[in-house]
Amino acid sequence: MAATAIRLPRSMALVAARRFSAAPALTATTRRCCIRSPTSAHILSTTTLRFLSNSSSSPAPPSVVEIDGRKYNTDKWFNTPANVIAAASRRLHLQEDHPVAITRQIIESRFPAPTFRYVNSLHPVVSTFQNFDSLGFPPDHPGRARSDTYYVNSDTLLRTHTSAHELETFRANASPGFLLSADVYRRDEVDRTHYPVFHQMEGARVWDRRTEADEKGDLTAAILRDLAKLQEHGIAVEDPNPPFHDETNPRQAPQHSPSEVEALGRHLKRSLELMVVEVFSRAKKAKALAGVETTDEPLRMRWVEAFFPFTSPSWELEVYYEGDWLEVLGCGITKQPILDAAGVPSQMAWAFGIGLDRIAMLLFQITDIRLFWSQDERFLSQFRGVSTDLDKLRQFVPFSKYPACYKDVSFWVGGDGSLHNNDVMEVIRSVAGDVVEDVQLTDSFAHPKTGRQSLCYRINYRSLERTLTNAETNRLHDDVNEALVQRLGVEIR
Ligand code: PHE
Repeated sequence: MAATAIRLPRSMALVAARRFSAAPALTATTRRCCIRSPTSAHILSTTTLRFLSNSSSSPAPPSVVEIDGRKYNTDKWFNTPANVIAAASRRLHLQEDHPVAITRQIIESRFPAPTFRYVNSLHPVVSTFQNFDSLGFPPDHPGRARSDTYYVNSDTLLRTHTSAHELETFRANASPGFLLSADVYRRDEVDRTHYPVFHQMEGARVWDRRTEADEKGDLTAAILRDLAKLQEHGIAVEDPNPPFHDETNPRQAPQHSPSEVEALGRHLKRSLELMVVEVFSRAKKAKALAGVETTDEPLRMRWVEAFFPFTSPSWELEVYYEGDWLEVLGCGITKQPILDAAGVPSQMAWAFGIGLDRIAMLLFQITDIRLFWSQDERFLSQFRGVSTDLDKLRQFVPFSKYPACYKDVSFWVGGDGSLHNNDVMEVIRSVAGDVVEDVQLTDSFAHPKTGRQSLCYRINYRSLERTLTNAETNRLHDDVNEALVQRLGVEIR
């Protein structure tokens, strides 16, 4: 999960912090985008304006909830709807022949055992300590807000990223590297590239001073030896960045020597470039197998400096795709306090995080993220046999697109005049489910006299599986309106 310095693409925000309030207290939060679900939008440099409020979207919580087979006591922090809890036991990343699982397998193939150990069945409920504190997230980090994260109770939540398991996996110290894939959860917008549940893979590789350092205690030579074992890919990658930047992307001095940081950065970057080359060459073959024309345009990649609370220096890898630079992963050199806390202070590590759904969408040309959750044979049958033979990978052929029907809802914000965009999204998704394709805020204004805030949302209803009748859509929309009134206290205009 990302922190400070903002690059917030509308659709990829870690946590799209937008609040509406009659008299909003405006604070500019600095935050970056994260490794999330796909979009063709590239990353824009912008500043998010955060309106402070403390709204809530949940009806009275049950006192105990069961999530993926485990029971939890809730408290007033609970904000996880039933549709999200239901998704917590789906484990798409482990479902044979599912595109998310296939994508995981393709990436794993570039990080072979026994150097890398695969950890793929960690329970989705973690503590705030695991998800945030263990990684050095400050207490006031916006990612902790209830508007952005699904809480079970005040110190228990659905993990928002796989980094939540870094500390414990470093502590297990079972292999020089690990790849950890899991479902992750974020409150966000509703559109074809966002779903409250998606999947990430965390990867890390460690070197140990006690066994691998030279006589001066330095790991440079050991890391360079491992770098020499990695293949070359022969593709020019744009990387104008120095190995580290003392002010903006610092080395962790004095623990890490400049040459160690340079060597580790090179090993990290080459490993990830090789993985991206693998993914995109598989995508190309999949296209050819489906008889889709492919261009001979060479793969273009570039490294940009980044910020994460748990790595330094940090970078993102971007790939040029259909006219845009697309962020595919975040990575960096693990902050030493994490390894110290994990009981392995003699180790130095790199780590990365990548969104699997987003890569799967590119790989298979799947344009609607809801398809991953669909049980429709027309979807699932297209990937049969691929988990056991990745060479059978074939680009997805879309089946019929059913008509969309949009409806607007305009309302006055009620109560204390504050409301979070994600709360509106959540209510709509939890009532209409996967039949909502997209929700857009189309208008917002304050009443000139009363100062009351009016918002208008356009909801696009479209089933992936069939044509919705008019009556059905109207009923659904009425239910959405009623839920907005009941749960958010708005007044329909
Ligand atoms: N957890 C980060 C995210 O979700 C990605 C990341 C993982 C970055 C590991 C650096 C190292 O955005």
